[in-house]
Amino acid sequence: MNEWIDNLFRYPELQSMGHCQDAGNRDLGLGWLYYSQIRLLKPKTVVCIGSWRGFVPLILAKGLLDNANGGKLHFIDPSLADDFWVDRAKTLKWFENFGLNNVEHYLATTQDFIEMPAYKRIKKVKLLFIDGYHSAKQAKIDYEAFEKVLTPDSSVFFHDSIRKFASGIYGEDKVYNHSVYSYIRKLKKRHDLQCMDFDFGSGVTLVRKVPTP
Ligand SMILES: C[S@@+](CC[C@H](N)C(=O)[O-])C[C@H]1O[C@@H](n2cnc3c(N)ncnc32)[C@H](O)[C@@H]1O
Repeated sequence: MNEWIDNLFRYPELQSMGHCQDAGNRDLGLGWLYYSQIRLLKPKTVVCIGSWRGFVPLILAKGLLDNANGGKLHFIDPSLADDFWVDRAKTLKWFENFGLNNVEHYLATTQDFIEMPAYKRIKKVKLLFIDGYHSAKQAKIDYEAFEKVLTPDSSVFFHDSIRKFASGIYGEDKVYNHSVYSYIRKLKKRHDLQCMDFDFGSGVTLVRKVPTP
């Protein structure tokens, strides 16, 4: 794992985006939380929506590889921030750099993805990571797109979910306010869900179904 982390942190772009990484200490920060859920749940099917340079999908796919049970990551990102995910061969190579060939990338928004045949093939999602467009409206679309295929023991993460933040990631002329926290407030009112905020970095919320007694 140490060697893998050293390789990951050779790239400065994988040390940011609010996950509390500390490259000097080989510390994945919130990445440990994501990785631990993968190791605990041992999912066969994981979905990740949105990523800047892949820190989260890389950690999730590494957990799946270490579980050694053939788990696969479905990564949905239309590459709206820039062209990083546009080229399919380059995207595959990027994951392969880290020893990972268990990632299927879809160059699509969630809205478009749910119209694709691949969407209908996705079943029994044990871990869903939502980190796409950070409005309450989009977070709801992302969650509801997969809610019906979540397993009873599934874990759902929402990143950038705790506070308002003005983001210029889509260009300084397209600054928008993160409002995922207001969707999380609604989920917290549901009696069938447990929601835990982790106020580290730019914040992440873990949502799980209340276990049947
Ligand atoms: C830049 S990331 C946010 C940073 C993130 N916190 C991280 O750690 O990488 C947001 C990503 O969401 C993607 N995105 C935006 N709208 C989306 C949508 N409707 N469906 C899926 N992905 C979307 C963008 O292409 C972008 O790559």
